[in-house]
Amino acid sequence: MKKTAKAHSNIALVKYWGKKGDENLRLPVNSSMSVALDSAYTLTTVEWDAQLEQDEVGMIDDTFSEKEKVKVSKHLDRVREMAGITTRARVVSKNNFPKAAGMASSASGFAALSMAAASAAGLELSSKELSILARKGSGSASRSIPGGIARWNAGESSETSYAERVEFPEDWKIKILLVMAEDTSAKKVGSTEGMAIAPTSPYFDLAVSEGKKDIERIKQAMDENNWSGFGRVIENECYRLHMMCMTSQPNILYWKGMTVEVFQALYTLRDEGIEAFFTVDAGPHVHVICKEDEAEQVKEKLSEIDGIKTVVECGVGPEARTVEEDLF
Ligand code: PMV
Repeated sequence: MKKTAKAHSNIALVKYWGKKGDENLRLPVNSSMSVALDSAYTLTTVEWDAQLEQDEVGMIDDTFSEKEKVKVSKHLDRVREMAGITTRARVVSKNNFPKAAGMASSASGFAALSMAAASAAGLELSSKELSILARKGSGSASRSIPGGIARWNAGESSETSYAERVEFPEDWKIKILLVMAEDTSAKKVGSTEGMAIAPTSPYFDLAVSEGKKDIERIKQAMDENNWSGFGRVIENECYRLHMMCMTSQPNILYWKGMTVEVFQALYTLRDEGIEAFFTVDAGPHVHVICKEDEAEQVKEKLSEIDGIKTVVECGVGPEARTVEEDLF
């Protein structure tokens, strides 16, 4: 059977950076929280075909490396095991944003793949079960299954480590501005490699305990309708992740000059009364979280900065779902 799923990328507000226990299970050292992006998504079609001798994996307008193809096949093995089948699959995927540029393509990619593969195999999985499955492909993908504002509970076992939606203050109409750097020339260090060396940072244990506190602090800020407090956690979390990267061995510096210039511009805007907050994943691009009615002013301020390729405006994205638009 052939099925297509659509899943949205997400940006972490409280970060996942570091695993515990069995590496293959992708159990995080701390719980994390994210917001799904409506304008950045992956579409994936999966067809199980008894005629195939091996999985056929491809992308539209992009390519998978051999290493990525192996990861996809390994993920299909998980679905084969759950469905009790040995059939191989044809997989075609399409992102509407650049892959592997610190833009969380693995999150939307593995969420869409999990849903399409499971549903084409006739499995009827709950959101929790899909989140657990997606997590094994890529940790952050667990949060793209519920979409919206999602919290991935670290858990103590595979069955207890999954993401679910959380309450978000109703009157916070937010926009996420995806500020893409022109210069992506730095040596790319993937999240798997980066996380593997995180414990070499002398600040790692402290960073993990702060991450655990931040998931409580962000909840408190949301419960109290405290926008400034919410932003403070987001920016502290951004620095917490990059502090671990910058101090691990070897050091990783994901930022570009433009990354820091965006931080500075937002600090200036804050002095002028506009509270927009920055966060950065494993790349140079910045995600700016702001109130919908202040987005234009923020974009105007950002237009003064050199080295920005484009700014994509996103709203809060929905959950992963099956769709009728098959890619083949
Ligand atoms: O899911 P992965 O393995 O791509 O790791 C994601 C890591 C960050 O994006 C940097 C942080 C996060 O919580 O999404």
